[in-house]
Amino acid sequence: MSATATELNTQIRIATIGSVDDGKSTLIGRLLHDSKGIFEDQLNAVSRASRRYGDGSFNLALLTDGLRAEREQGITIDVAYRYFATPNRSFVLADTPGHAQFTRNMVTGASVSDIAIVLVDARHGVVEQTRRHVAIAALLGVSHLVLAVNKMDLVDWSETVFDEVVTDVANILTTLDSRVPLHPVPICATGGQNVVDRAEESSWYDGPSILDLLERLDVSASQDVGARLAVQWTIREHGGSDYRGYAGRLDGGTLAVGERVVVYPKGYTSVVTSVTRAGAPTDEAIAGDAIAVELQDDLDVGKNDVIVAASAQQPVVTQQIVADVCWFDESSVSVGAPIVVRHSSGEVSGRITAIQHRLDLDTLQNSSAQQLELNDIGRIEISLSSPLVVDAYTEHRAGGSAALISPTTNATVGALMVVRAGQAPAVPAPKARARRIIRDFFTAKEKNHDAFALFAS
Ligand code: GTP
Ligand code: MG
Repeated sequence: MSATATELNTQIRIATIGSVDDGKSTLIGRLLHDSKGIFEDQLNAVSRASRRYGDGSFNLALLTDGLRAEREQGITIDVAYRYFATPNRSFVLADTPGHAQFTRNMVTGASVSDIAIVLVDARHGVVEQTRRHVAIAALLGVSHLVLAVNKMDLVDWSETVFDEVVTDVANILTTLDSRVPLHPVPICATGGQNVVDRAEESSWYDGPSILDLLERLDVSASQDVGARLAVQWTIREHGGSDYRGYAGRLDGGTLAVGERVVVYPKGYTSVVTSVTRAGAPTDEAIAGDAIAVELQDDLDVGKNDVIVAASAQQPVVTQQIVADVCWFDESSVSVGAPIVVRHSSGEVSGRITAIQHRLDLDTLQNSSAQQLELNDIGRIEISLSSPLVVDAYTEHRAGGSAALISPTTNATVGALMVVRAGQAPAVPAPKARARRIIRDFFTAKEKNHDAFALFAS
């Protein structure tokens, strides 16, 4: 569980998730406050806002609840990002809304996170929204799930209550067949117990505080499939030079001058002749760098093409996708619906050709469905009008995720995680297979016959 030397300075991305009012914003405020992650002027602003919008007591949730509408209603609507650092690590915290209406924002926050902290109000235990969020976090492939059983002050720090919640969440993960490690902590976000400092009230709990976990959890297991560069634009230099660079952000691996690459979707092969980072040439770029590369061959490469190191795991070029989706549009969707898939390798129109199942959030079982409705999680098949360059989400998050856009309203109506790309190789039906075997046999025999004829002559 300990952080390795290379990780100590990495930025860890965290999302707080859970049902409305479970205390997500308060927990983040507490983390920032107790780890000294907020400044004097912010504290003064929170004191002022607490007097204005609350009962006057210092309201930590106001540190993240930035929008005016949020403050007035006391709920989080947007995704608020907050940055803080300890001597060991730096963190980006995404405070996501608990209200079902805002599942989209929760998915946005969690989709880029290494760790999700799921909050549960100890008084209420696991509710439908907890199940939905845990299911989405598991689908989105976070490396760790920290379970903060909050408001323990309101249940007299009962160990039995805590154990019940832990069992319920562990059962959700088992039922979903998820192997994401679960780290439960009993906390009180308003008082700060077990958030940064350990609490005396929970003498029966001898585990780490939330911050201890955030500082120590190993998130290095995140997948690296090797060097990928989704081309954002082509740079041509003026003034007679024939420089032609392909620019974008290196997503995974390292890319060096001299490296053999494949350019998708066309499948051209070439060799990297220069790498430019921050305007200066470099021999090698690493994942996360914004770079431009030149290739040895004069190829037709442009926006949305994907340059992949030949040594890396290769993506799939496909017009058929099987994917898990979170549907967050008010209007439901059914088979036959036209849809636009917005992926790093392009924006392509298509059609939903099947709904394989929908996740029932009460039983956590997959059931057959004619349509997906607001906040449903399900598995669909999509047929695309032109190819995309994709990966399975479990192998590569960036290459396996896409947004679903409505072609009529242009609104984002869902988030998509590729389960499988392309069509499974068709197994010939027995009769057809038999015919093929017979045909092959006779073809071979004819060839042999010819060969015999040659010998005979
Ligand atoms: P949404 O953003 O609307 O989903 O809510 P949230 O999860 O961010 O909850 P928030 O932090 O706004 O807290 C909701 C209410 O619970 C506030 O009144 C908090 O003061 C209160 N609260 C949060 N944590 C605790 C706790 O540990 N104990 C007690 N007694 N109250 C708490
Ligand atoms: Mg909130």
